[in-house]
Amino acid sequence: MIKDVFGAGTETSSAVLEWAMTELLRHPTVMKKLQNEVRGILHGKQDITLDDLEKMQYLKAVIKETLRYHPPVPLIPREAGRDAKIMGYDIAAGTMVLVNALAIGWDPAFWDEPENFEPERFLNSSIDFNGLHLQYIPFGIGRRICPGIGFAKVLIELVLANLMQKFDWKLPDGAKGENLDTTGLRGLVIRRKNPLIAVATLCHS
Ligand code: HEM
Repeated sequence: MIKDVFGAGTETSSAVLEWAMTELLRHPTVMKKLQNEVRGILHGKQDITLDDLEKMQYLKAVIKETLRYHPPVPLIPREAGRDAKIMGYDIAAGTMVLVNALAIGWDPAFWDEPENFEPERFLNSSIDFNGLHLQYIPFGIGRRICPGIGFAKVLIELVLANLMQKFDWKLPDGAKGENLDTTGLRGLVIRRKNPLIAVATLCHS
């Protein structure tokens, strides 16, 4: 049980951080805006507190957009409790159904230009991953919704805020962000196929 919960928490959270860094390297203006927010709120203070994180609205928007763009658990399994008809298909009780959270997060019926990585869409928006917004379900929905949401949220915010505050980032050998490979590896949790390699420079400001 402990092994299962540890696996569910570490693999997913590290995948989100790797995808967030990937998109920030692909979108330097987003990275700059995020660094300005984080550094502006901290004023050189090294230890980041929960109060500091509460103020970082753009940080939260970047993480939400990463979870929409690259949900680490794209398919959420369910078993049909009774016979049902969905979009003209007969689904017999007991059938395993896979809810495609990735397709829902990229559906143009719910999202403007879903193929654009744009954290701004989550600013001044009430859409959250608490299971109340059916168009956005990176942590699942209903009684089996991920019980680790609160932990994952703080963990990812804290790590990403530290990475933005303490380092400047670029790709090795002058590589351009827009050429960065974003292929995902197929599996239960989708993470990058090839590891992300980036150069960190200590920020002294
Ligand atoms: C960004 C990080 C994470 C994502 C995207 C994520 C996503 C998910 C998803 C989609 C499910 C299935 C929900 C459903 O069936 O409706 C799930 C279940 C679960 N998650 Fe997470 N998770 C994350 C982090 C964590 C953490 C940090 C923990 C524990 C500390 C955790 C523990 C679990 C457990 C135990 C379940 C199974 C719950 C059940 O079946 O009743 N997860 N997670």
